Amino acid sequence: MMRRAICPGSFDPVTHGHLDIIRRGTALVDELVVGVGVNGGKHAMFSAAERVAMLSDAVADLPGVTVAEIDGLLVEFCRCREIGTIIKGVRSGTDLDYEMQMAQMNRQLTGIETVFLPTAAEWAFVSSTLIREISSLGGDISQFVPDVVMRALAQRRATNPTEGAR
Ligand code: PNS
Repeated sequence: MMRRAICPGSFDPVTHGHLDIIRRGTALVDELVVGVGVNGGKHAMFSAAERVAMLSDAVADLPGVTVAEIDGLLVEFCRCREIGTIIKGVRSGTDLDYEMQMAQMNRQLTGIETVFLPTAAEWAFVSSTLIREISSLGGDISQFVPDVVMRALAQRRATNPTEGAR
């Protein structure tokens, strides 16, 4: 039987920390869907379509990985696509508290299991929020994000210089 998992997130924008989790997730399953979801508690800088496009470029060299927008509930998306496992990276105890609540809720809703992968130490302090802030204030974030994100952030800075600094 095909083992299919999802790596869901906001990916606003995708970082090397995310890509490390995605890469390591592929070793655990046959197919990995990277799911771009709406986090009700966050204001997104990039549209879902833009985030999907950036991710598609960043994972193009990874076999068995596809990218899709989660257009409703994560567990419904998983049910429709016969995805049996959620894979999430965890950077810290704070992440774990937040992720644990979602994992338990998702399991209560449909029985789907979540597997946590500890973030590699070299990316443990990287977050999309910090990337947006540093980029909007003119800092160099090239070591933390793929080239496609560098280009997208540069374009945003040119058209809207104050965006992201929040
Ligand atoms: O990168 P994030 O912001 O931690 O990702 C959170 C995300 C997008 C995975 C989560 O908000 C989600 O699953 N959204 C889809 C809607 C949903 O199912 N919400 C209920 C979660 S218990």
